[in-house]
Amino acid sequence: MIVESSLTETRRIVRAARQQGRSVGCVPTMGALHKGHVSLIENARKDCDFIVATIFINPTQFGPNEDFTRYPRTLDADLELCRAAGADLIFTPPVSAMYAESAQTIVRVTRMAQVLEGAHRPGHFDGVSTVVTKLFNVTEPDRAYFGQKDFQQQLIIRQMVLDLDEPVEIITCPTIREADGLAMSSRNRFLSVDERQRASQLFHTLKLAESLAAESTLTPPEIAQQMTNHLKSVNGIDVQYAVIADSATLECLAERSDFAVALVAAKVGSTRLIDNQILRFR
Ligand code: PAF
Repeated sequence: MIVESSLTETRRIVRAARQQGRSVGCVPTMGALHKGHVSLIENARKDCDFIVATIFINPTQFGPNEDFTRYPRTLDADLELCRAAGADLIFTPPVSAMYAESAQTIVRVTRMAQVLEGAHRPGHFDGVSTVVTKLFNVTEPDRAYFGQKDFQQQLIIRQMVLDLDEPVEIITCPTIREADGLAMSSRNRFLSVDERQRASQLFHTLKLAESLAAESTLTPPEIAQQMTNHLKSVNGIDVQYAVIADSATLECLAERSDFAVALVAAKVGSTRLIDNQILRFR
């Protein structure tokens, strides 16, 4: 496995692999890797001949009061996980190589990036779509792998590659969960023992939505209200949203639909967590 910080050299290595007829899979990450990331690399390994994982904590997707400075930096452990999962190349550039002081360009997806996470984290998705475009420009992948846990992110990236004619197929991989259902996230390590127990209520809220959709005649807004009530009943959880939206557009649903997703965001202590679940209405 090669570890490379230079954009030029990374592009050269990937192009050399492609010239040998190898298909290229890219797994963009911000490091602090866990089993969710490992499963992305393993999925890429099944589909593609040459796997590049990127490790870059992207400053432009953090708001001024967010956790950029305390975001976990665990490069040695990350490299071990990437090696074991079968990555061929790790691209881990310094911030100065990704963002020149003179840079003036951002990539912005509009409507879909303004709701939910976009409404709570202004500018977040500008940072994500800009850095993912740049990572794709360096690694020129055939396919790129994202987790379903960041449901809105993967939809926005799909929209972006469609709109910009970027020749990359976006693959969304299932959320990997802890035994009690909590979605794996690099931020879970910030939870105290007590908060960690409460955090699994996000998953239970989604399970509640799933069973109400499958077994009751409640409308999406009624189910969303029950999700909110459930989360609010847990001490120490600050609900940011609990909604049922169209799974392609993220517009909130008023009526039952075949294309529905339940999405939640909540702060548990000072740690902000998100999760989601595709719903099947009966
Ligand atoms: O999901 C993440 O880890 C980040 O948002 C991504 C896609 C690597 C862009 O920085």
